[in-house]
Amino acid sequence: MSSILQANGVLKTNAILKTMAHRGVSNQAPENTLAAFILAVDAGCQWIEIDVQLSSDGVPMVIHDDTVNRCTNGCGKVAEMTLSQLKKLDAGLWFNDKYRGEPIPTLLETLDFVQRTQTKLNIELKVYPQDDIALLCAKVAQVIIASGIAADQILFSSFHTQALIEMQDLLPQVRRGQLWQKIPREAFDILREIKAYSVHCDYRFLNSTIAQQIKQFDYQLYCYTPNLPELVDDYWHWGVDMMITDIPQAYAALENV
Ligand code: G3P
Ligand code: MG
Repeated sequence: MSSILQANGVLKTNAILKTMAHRGVSNQAPENTLAAFILAVDAGCQWIEIDVQLSSDGVPMVIHDDTVNRCTNGCGKVAEMTLSQLKKLDAGLWFNDKYRGEPIPTLLETLDFVQRTQTKLNIELKVYPQDDIALLCAKVAQVIIASGIAADQILFSSFHTQALIEMQDLLPQVRRGQLWQKIPREAFDILREIKAYSVHCDYRFLNSTIAQQIKQFDYQLYCYTPNLPELVDDYWHWGVDMMITDIPQAYAALENV
């Protein structure tokens, strides 16, 4: 297996380079926090996936659920809380006492981390019922421009094609990936419309025929969220390019990937 020895002594194997840390290394640190992103860099991952939605005062925040109930010590809807209210919450304690005080990061803080560590960021645009997609995309684009991050360090994804259409208008130079649980029949029309770079799908619904069709058109093909490498052994042969996983380290020792 080929590998690269980084300056910090971490051995980057081909296999780890073909994983994306889902919400950071979210099996070892609280998801969507800087602590989980640091572990991803330490593990040798090039890519980190995050979920983004707006606070009530229009700040893109890194959090998955539409409420803060599961992953913080607070309670309520993200979209009904200001940046200042969200920043007062503890997003680490629910996971483990050693992460007490870990805050919900903003997108801007996360972009700063990604720039400093020269990693790459998959920004999943989360759209919940009642969300204003155009506003979400406009605010995300503003933050990205303000950060000065290079376009090739970012990839947008969303289950909501409309969000990707908006991003295509706002930041055409940033790549877009369509998220589907199961890839639908009309996939190729949608992928053409958004000039997609990648397809991200639930590994449990993928088969070799669909995977080969996607690869025939040269799209990158990513699977979420296989946490046991043995479940997706065959997928590499089908042409899958990357696994979006909570446990990138589980893939580190694989050969022939
Ligand atoms: O981006 C892949 C994956 O994150 C999509 O599902 O619910 O974990 O955001 P979810
Ligand atoms: Mg996600």
